[in-house]
Amino acid sequence: MDKWGVSTWRNKPIVQQPEYSDLSSLQSVESQLRGNPPLVFVNEIQALSRQLSRVAEGQAFLLQGGDCAESFAEFNTDNIQNTCKILLQMAVILVFSGSCPVVQVGRLAGQFAKPRSADKEIKKGVELPSYRGDIINDIAFNQNARTPDPDRMIRAYNQSAATLNLLRAFTKGGLADLHQVHQWNLEFVKESPLGEKYQNLADRIGEALAFMEACGVTSKDTPSIRETTMYTSHEALLLNYEEALTRQDNITGDWYDCSAHMIWIGERTRQLDEAHIEFARGVKNPIGIKAGPSIDPDKLLRLIDKVNPHNEPGRLTVIVRMGADHISDELPPLIRSVKREGRHVVWSSDPMHGNTVETSHGYKTRSFDKILEEVRKFFEIHSSEGTYAGGIHCEMTGQNVTECIGGAQAITEKELAHKYYTHCDPRLNAAQALELAFLISDFLKKAEYEVRPRYK
Ligand code: PEP
Ligand code: CO
Repeated sequence: MDKWGVSTWRNKPIVQQPEYSDLSSLQSVESQLRGNPPLVFVNEIQALSRQLSRVAEGQAFLLQGGDCAESFAEFNTDNIQNTCKILLQMAVILVFSGSCPVVQVGRLAGQFAKPRSADKEIKKGVELPSYRGDIINDIAFNQNARTPDPDRMIRAYNQSAATLNLLRAFTKGGLADLHQVHQWNLEFVKESPLGEKYQNLADRIGEALAFMEACGVTSKDTPSIRETTMYTSHEALLLNYEEALTRQDNITGDWYDCSAHMIWIGERTRQLDEAHIEFARGVKNPIGIKAGPSIDPDKLLRLIDKVNPHNEPGRLTVIVRMGADHISDELPPLIRSVKREGRHVVWSSDPMHGNTVETSHGYKTRSFDKILEEVRKFFEIHSSEGTYAGGIHCEMTGQNVTECIGGAQAITEKELAHKYYTHCDPRLNAAQALELAFLISDFLKKAEYEVRPRYK
């Protein structure tokens, strides 16, 4: 294989990129970012790699979730705290009901760049460049807003730094203390059936904590009771930004993309000999690769070998996003060939991106039933293939939105308009996210007897 460097991706074909007209401004932004502090640190990235190797061995579960796209406009403490709370709630359901350690990875603090199905958008006869995420251009439909502006990378970097600062404070400074589980239940969910179900679980956790305390195990001497770790991740799409935040570790000489702990390569940019895979193969961060219906076993194996040539467990997560109607045909051949060739991967399910539809009123939505169906099939297929369903990757928010149809609140197509706030894809709201977590915890309980003993 050719020698890798932080810039070798520039010699490869590339898709889904903005066309910057002011190249000197682009270069000056890149050099400013190169001089800025890393957003995450090498020892944290290495810790996540170790955690994910436990997932690959069937001993833990990966929970990855957050916004489809973060935005500059909706950046505030409440939104970040609520996303953090709903992730903590999902994690606690999985740990307690599913009896399984959970690795928490947010789609946040850098999830700004979006691949698009078309380069141009036409409205009332006017054609403009598509919105590509706040790190690139603005969602407003006018020429000025849609012109890619390199300075937006600096703003995205600053917002990511502030987001990470909040996350660290929330997870280490008391919010994540297990004694607070009741407080994580968001106001607007409390009265719903899922909020109540969660409340019951929180009561049981409270009893377990009181019992442990009586036995002498307290949060004072057991840090895992009072704090947790939330790793960050995003799609590594805008490689100018990723390259500028990539640093060489002076102990090992290895390169780490310090914009996030984990990065993934999307469905539209994972071509074997193109720029995005070239960039990903050389950084030591855990890497995710999306796998939709257009992949086949041969393509997947070649990608695996390029990105993880030493077959390290935890290095690579295959994020399956087939759609509920395709997963039963498409996933088993992939699992069988990866198993036959002895490759170690984490299998994670993204039940969102293969189930997007457009309503007659022009809303992009997803049916919650289809989402659950894909997750259920994902677990059942792994169970019958004798492999481990190791993770979930979803788009969700702690805000009270109406973007996906169905769920316990039975959101209808008509109601989508009430609280449809997303900048890109429709997200699960908090109640739907809890329902999903309870469903997964049932499968994890099963895996405790079926799968985990095989790896011990
Ligand atoms: C995403 O995760 O937001 C996304 C665009 O996914 P995919 O690449 O799977 O379409
Ligand atoms: Co999306």
